[in-house]
Amino acid sequence: MTYLDNGATSMNKPQAVLDAVRCALENCANPGRGGHTAAMTAARTVLRCRERAAQLFGCKPEQVVFTANCTQGLNMAIRTLVKPGDKVAVSGFEHNAVVRPLYALGAKTVVAGRKLFDPVDTLERFEDALRRGAKAAVFTHVSNVFGYILPVEELAALCRQYRVPFVLDAAQSAGMLPVDMEKLGADFIAMPGHKGLLGPQGTGLLLCADRLEPLLFGGTGSDSKNPGMPDYLPERGEAGTLNVPGIAGLSAGITYVQRVGIHKIFEKQQRQARRCASALERLGFRVFSGREQGGTVSFVPDRDCEEAAELLAQRGVAVRAGLHCAPLAHESAGTLETGTVRVSFGHDAAPWQTGNLLLALETLPKR
Ligand code: ALA
Repeated sequence: MTYLDNGATSMNKPQAVLDAVRCALENCANPGRGGHTAAMTAARTVLRCRERAAQLFGCKPEQVVFTANCTQGLNMAIRTLVKPGDKVAVSGFEHNAVVRPLYALGAKTVVAGRKLFDPVDTLERFEDALRRGAKAAVFTHVSNVFGYILPVEELAALCRQYRVPFVLDAAQSAGMLPVDMEKLGADFIAMPGHKGLLGPQGTGLLLCADRLEPLLFGGTGSDSKNPGMPDYLPERGEAGTLNVPGIAGLSAGITYVQRVGIHKIFEKQQRQARRCASALERLGFRVFSGREQGGTVSFVPDRDCEEAAELLAQRGVAVRAGLHCAPLAHESAGTLETGTVRVSFGHDAAPWQTGNLLLALETLPKR
């Protein structure tokens, strides 16, 4: 299979990730729930992952809260910062993992910056929204649909300047672009463990500056006489048994990414995405590409998107078609009615993958 759906989840996980999951299943009990060897092995496994994540993302280990996915982290962050009726500035490229929690809370979402690959527009519109009294901001680092890399350092600086707390959605950037909690001065950064960090599904991280309102309440293995959740991190955000095999795999994934180097991974992805975009344009499709773009390219095929993706799947090429859980991004790009076919490269991006995609497209029945 030519796997070009890394925006959804990474495949071809390093062998070390598979080994770590297996090793945890065989050796780890419940971390923080006992002093015996297997519980202590689990606790060390979890701590190691926290430390590695903290090193990669410029924060302290206790600021790393394990979640089940990026969506859970975003919900926790949004619930902490936003009250019903609050104005919240978001980019025009947010995923439903941001849009829906805000809607459910009854926040007034202000969409700031809808122009693709136009960081100047993004910044101007954001500043406008902050100046007009946004109580919080939530923005994605990289659009999951179009691969647009938003100017997050500048957006973060604007939020700091206007004293507006903010959440960064690093779903499509963690493990591929530098993400530094301290440098950004973020209140929260949420990310999945199973995409660019190459861990298993069911893993995620929420980096927390200080405060955090729990979504789940329950045992933490600490402060047990307290009927409320501990008021310290990370336990405040981690009720119930952690996904230790997942965390062990994530730890190995982070180590792999650090060893290879995120710049190298990013360059490989971007090179293929650019090559792919030019070739798709030559084939006559409507392609969304720009300078500020990572390893993801969307295009509108000459037929229904789902049909095109299905035909590609029959030819051994895995892509994702439709709205990609991001109707706001499609609305911004003018593709809400058609959707797009999304090609998203991973850590293993290589010329043969682009070649296989193009070959497959050339063999589609003519319209
Ligand atoms: N949010 C993921 C995607 O973009 C699942 O496909």
